[in-house]
Amino acid sequence: MRISIFHGVHDLSAALARDLVDRLHRTPALILGLPTGRTPLHFYRCLVTLSTEGHADFSRATTFNLDEFLGVAPEQAGSYQQYMERHFFRHINIDRRQIHFLNGAAPSADAECARYEADIAAAGGIDLQVLGIGANGHIGFNEPGEHLAARTHRVILRPETRRANAAPFGGDPNNVPTEALSMGMATILQARSIALMATGAEKAECVAEMTRGPLTTRLPASFLQLHPDVHVMLDEAAARRIR
Ligand code: F6R
Repeated sequence: MRISIFHGVHDLSAALARDLVDRLHRTPALILGLPTGRTPLHFYRCLVTLSTEGHADFSRATTFNLDEFLGVAPEQAGSYQQYMERHFFRHINIDRRQIHFLNGAAPSADAECARYEADIAAAGGIDLQVLGIGANGHIGFNEPGEHLAARTHRVILRPETRRANAAPFGGDPNNVPTEALSMGMATILQARSIALMATGAEKAECVAEMTRGPLTTRLPASFLQLHPDVHVMLDEAAARRIR
């Protein structure tokens, strides 16, 4: 794992945005895997600025978002699709047909997960997967537990994950769906490159375990140690246990 430590979320986000845009220059038809959450907000802002200033052309890029809440329709407030529209997609020149989401309101969750895997494979796999990390060590919504799923699947969210995602659901964790659809561990690990962003002291413990600890289903992000090209990008607070 390559680890970079930045002064704060602004430097970190700017560095990752520049890296992504460099890749886009080299490979205009770049296939991206994208996260939601609080951590990447400034990263998306940086990408929008680069795009608005004419430094980034997304017209040939393809995106796959990592996860979506089960039972939440794409147009519903709180869906990750709404988040991505608001913070990123509506501000850039991406071809709408190249934006891919899991549909949390699909009639069959299993069929929806299979469809997503097939779409990723048909696109040729993900070039750069951007990740955040939950304070409990989840990536995507691959929650800690006895086992992990390899492929895109339906997952039961842990209470701490529902608490962390309460904001778009009126601030009440009880309003956060109990289940989600998420890319699986193999889906993520098959990306050709991975960049993981982590900021804030509440991530320090799991970041240290992820980089130095054993591979364990109790900390799904630890499996990133198996990947040959992972860039872990941290602010000083998230890095303080690995200094
Ligand atoms: C969301 C996702 C999650 C988040 C993680 C961290 O699409 O994949 O794994 O990256 O829950 O969330 P924040 O950034 O809000 O701390």
